[in-house]
Amino acid sequence: SLNGYEHYMLKEIYEQPDALRNAMRGRLNDQDATAVFGGLNLTPQQLRSVERIILTGCGTSWHSALVGEYMIEELARIPVCVEYASELRYRNPPIENNTLVFGITQSGETADTLAALNETKRKGHRTLAICNVVGSSIAQASDGGVYLHAGPEIGVASTKAFTSQCCVLAMLALYFGRTRHTSFETGERIIEDLRRLPAMIEQALTCDAEVRKVAEKYQSASNVLYLGRRYNFPTALEGALKLKEISYIHAEGYPAAEMKHGPIALVDADTPSVFIMPRGTTYDKVLSNMEEVKARGGPVIAIASSEDTEIRKIADDVITIPEAPEFLQPIITVVPLQLLSYHIAVLRGCDVDKPRNLAKSVTVE
Ligand code: F6R
Repeated sequence: SLNGYEHYMLKEIYEQPDALRNAMRGRLNDQDATAVFGGLNLTPQQLRSVERIILTGCGTSWHSALVGEYMIEELARIPVCVEYASELRYRNPPIENNTLVFGITQSGETADTLAALNETKRKGHRTLAICNVVGSSIAQASDGGVYLHAGPEIGVASTKAFTSQCCVLAMLALYFGRTRHTSFETGERIIEDLRRLPAMIEQALTCDAEVRKVAEKYQSASNVLYLGRRYNFPTALEGALKLKEISYIHAEGYPAAEMKHGPIALVDADTPSVFIMPRGTTYDKVLSNMEEVKARGGPVIAIASSEDTEIRKIADDVITIPEAPEFLQPIITVVPLQLLSYHIAVLRGCDVDKPRNLAKSVTVE
């Protein structure tokens, strides 16, 4: 039921603190400063011998794969590659021994993801699922995996599944890292950061009224750019996808520094740019990208840390989010982007939960 919310999408956006609590329940182990998973079905020897990880999925699940790539490479130092499932299944790439393949999927029924996993499994690689729907086709077809426990996601636009997938990937990065380079102390710190996530999302949700004002201002745009770097690059893609699919506004996500290689030509007074720029490694660089857009007359909206007091001098609109460690930022920064697309879609009279031409799970090629 809608529980008093106007749409499932809004309800599911607000369910994210609980969804993450459920994703983490019983999976953080303080004794060994690591994560534990009941269903990966890997022996310590198999775990230790993993030399590469492939993350595959479609749409929003492919975006969480990109986040996972950054997390696993940074925390566990295992090479990761991300493949669209629809490409992986026909591309026939050479895959080395000791490669682990994860299919990431909310529904567990996406035809391309299932086919990509079956194809890699047939070649003798270990295939695992990061999946929400218990007992789904992909959950059954894989050698093991991790359930999200996010509860049913009914809105066609994926929201709580995305943040839960990112959270599971962060726990996997911790788990793989602790079999290798990650120290006990670092493991403890990561666990502490993960435990703060639900409260950080709760705080991020308090930006709703602010976001609604921004939505009113930009609801008639025909094009919107989303820009971010490192962990916030996948979020830029995800923000753009959310806007496209439910409000039918054309949007593009880019790594912020790529802008000057082409997309900046799109900037004009009617094309707002959303900069996802919490404080962190590339903050200053993204800030100068923002100044370039301003100089060309483009309106700029900043998703920024609440502690960032300078940003209001430059950005036309600022939406603030709580400060978070960089590897967890996408889980926080995506919240205002979900709300922005939701409010714009509602203002434009779109059918938020059932956007045109889309189905909840894509069971055809
Ligand atoms: C976007 C969206 C789709 C799905 C994609 C994969 O909001 O919902 O892009 O993410 O169809 O679906 P699953 O995760 O069920 O495999």
